[in-house]
Amino acid sequence: MGLDWVEDAKKRAAIEAAKCVKDGSVIGLGSGSTVAYAIEEIGRRIMEEDLHILGIPTSYQSFLLAVKSGIPVTTLHEHPVIDLTIDGADQVDSKLNMIKGMGGALTREKIVAAASKRLIIVVDERKLTDKLGWGQPIPIEVLPFAEPLVSKKIREIGGKTSLRETRKGTPYITDNGNFILDVDFGIIENPYELNEKLKMIPGVIETGLFLDMAHIVYVGTRTSVKKIDRLRS
Ligand code: A5P
Repeated sequence: MGLDWVEDAKKRAAIEAAKCVKDGSVIGLGSGSTVAYAIEEIGRRIMEEDLHILGIPTSYQSFLLAVKSGIPVTTLHEHPVIDLTIDGADQVDSKLNMIKGMGGALTREKIVAAASKRLIIVVDERKLTDKLGWGQPIPIEVLPFAEPLVSKKIREIGGKTSLRETRKGTPYITDNGNFILDVDFGIIENPYELNEKLKMIPGVIETGLFLDMAHIVYVGTRTSVKKIDRLRS
């Protein structure tokens, strides 16, 4: 009755997403343990189906895994338009809005998602929620110099801030050299308004609220994969 099903569920969702990768395309490669299965599967397809794919990784983690999996990597400078990005998420609501960033890669993930024609998200069913924020803080990437100001301003709008630390008790540093604040706002009734307020604070690099970005979510359940579509307006 434990969580034995979770890895299989994540893998099922990831493999389904990897089927959407077409020959000749540029693919954004998200970060986290679920999308890692998709990266490995894309690597396998490149080798076995002789596909010509280029990957744009969102973190050192996905960069190293892409290289290990045989996916040639490129950059936004060379390919500013990405055909498809596959990424994970920490929480997904019924409108396919998301909280991301527990892996610390939210800023590059949001940039790559925004540069993509299509964004496919892969999760297991534990990530689905009616409303964002239920038992899930919002990760916010912050310029270290600005952290005291950002924390104060966030507390003033009702968030409980916690500076993310490593296991050794030192501040967690992102791939961009910044801090992460994990902020508990409780249930978020209006994520759009909250995102606007957070982005207005000097020193906030990016928030983990990904709104109106996902096109498709593949959800790995205990026994199968569910596909949820959103028509982008
Ligand atoms: C990385 O910064 C996050 O946005 C990840 O996409 C997220 O934490 C999902 O990771 P898992 O697939 O390991 O749960």
